[in-house]
Amino acid sequence: MGSEKVIEEKKQGQALLTDHKQGNHKKLFIESYGCQMNLNDTEIVASILSEEGYNTTHLLEEADLVLVNTCSIREKAEQTVRKRLEKYNAVKKINPAMKVGVLGCMAERLKSKFLEEEKIVDLVVGPDAYKDLPNLLAEVSAGRDAVNVILSKEETYGDISPVRLNSNGVSAFVSITRGCDNMCTFCVVPFTRGRERSRDPKSILEEVRDLVAKNYKEITLLGQNVDSYLWYGGGLKKDFKNASEIAKATAVDFAQLLDLAATEFQKTRFRFSTSNPQDMSLDVIHTMAKHENICKYIHLPVQSGSTTVLERMNRQHTREEYMELIDNIKKILPECSLSQDMIAGFCGETEEEHQDTLSLMEYVQYDFGFMFAYSERPGTPAEKRMEDDVQLAVKKRRLNEIIQLQREHGAYRMEQFIGKNVEVLIEGTSKKSDAHWKGRNSQNAMVIFPKGDEQIGDFVDILVEDCTSATLLGKRA
Ligand code: SAH
Ligand code: F3S
Repeated sequence: MGSEKVIEEKKQGQALLTDHKQGNHKKLFIESYGCQMNLNDTEIVASILSEEGYNTTHLLEEADLVLVNTCSIREKAEQTVRKRLEKYNAVKKINPAMKVGVLGCMAERLKSKFLEEEKIVDLVVGPDAYKDLPNLLAEVSAGRDAVNVILSKEETYGDISPVRLNSNGVSAFVSITRGCDNMCTFCVVPFTRGRERSRDPKSILEEVRDLVAKNYKEITLLGQNVDSYLWYGGGLKKDFKNASEIAKATAVDFAQLLDLAATEFQKTRFRFSTSNPQDMSLDVIHTMAKHENICKYIHLPVQSGSTTVLERMNRQHTREEYMELIDNIKKILPECSLSQDMIAGFCGETEEEHQDTLSLMEYVQYDFGFMFAYSERPGTPAEKRMEDDVQLAVKKRRLNEIIQLQREHGAYRMEQFIGKNVEVLIEGTSKKSDAHWKGRNSQNAMVIFPKGDEQIGDFVDILVEDCTSATLLGKRA
């Protein structure tokens, strides 16, 4: 996130480097595609394998083990991974001892079919089975294919301290929930990541404490649906109603978790992603208002501005309810920025329904957006019960209209910062100029300014003087 541009599936996954553990001799090449949760899972996998004698390498050619953490969210994401497998195959011809494993959502979706379809794959591991990797690797060394795609009702990896891969040393991710129970009809996530579970707040706060001790300045709490975070002693959220009175009385919800974190670590910035409109409570918004160190930015995917489309998508709110939520956010947090996810051309979408999406965007004026053409996913309720009947050309035209409008709104929102002072956390050198720093303000806008005697990880006040459609330009205030 952090750009108004459409985020297409990354052309190149992120090949990752890590701190090296002494005495480790085996080499792991690991790449991550898709969401931030995948990136965080990849860090968990690197941590598990570091105990098994693996250090990471960024050279595919020298790897003993190649792992790719995959995404299934749209067809294109899967195609990208298939292409990477071809590349690994070419390298394996030179280095036949190299083993190849597929992790993540595609592993879960395709299971052992992967081994038949892609001869190069030795290992298939779903998102809840990473602790089984040492056993699975032993199977592979014994010359057997290894598959574990069992989804868990408990696994949260709460006891594993992720190896921070490719980090800027300033911002880090901490997972707080796994899975999703929402069953939006277009979405494959409930099938690939399983039921929703929340992680023990103690282990979350411990991980944050550890990151703060290591000088991290900004922490993003991650989940498919962070607002439905609920800890009452463990297990699935749906079982809460059967929990004991004590468990209910001591339960921690997302607003409380945010409050705990922001109170204990006042010098640390907190972000969170992703919010679901139907689950976002006013308590969360008030908690954001209470703490200066909770960033004023909400990613609030809506997918469509039409109530009838939202109904077909099984989103549990109407256009009007979403607008009411937006009104509340703007009232309680006037300085808050907002971003959307939109899907163009969902099953049966009429021109009028599409216009409702554009008019909702006009109403909200989002700062950023992530926009996609509907891509039918095997096994989802939409694939089973509805027809993917919007012509590709129509989908693309509607998507372009949405993107164009978002560009205008993004640019408008950026302009509002001109002449104002913003607090920026310095993340590193600007990509375009060695003489400039880059960092983000509370609203998640990228800010570029000339280097002085500041350092990475410093918070500085910047006077915004100019902007492009996605970046603010300024100088020390
Ligand atoms: N709650 C999740 C959503 C994951 S999917 C989160 O953490 O962000 C991210 C976005 O991908 C969705 O909000 C939706 O806009 C888009 N998406 C999901 N399934 C899709 C599909 N079948 N076709 C096109 N876009 C899809
Ligand atoms: Fe997918 Fe809807 Fe959950 S988009 S991740 S099923 S909230």
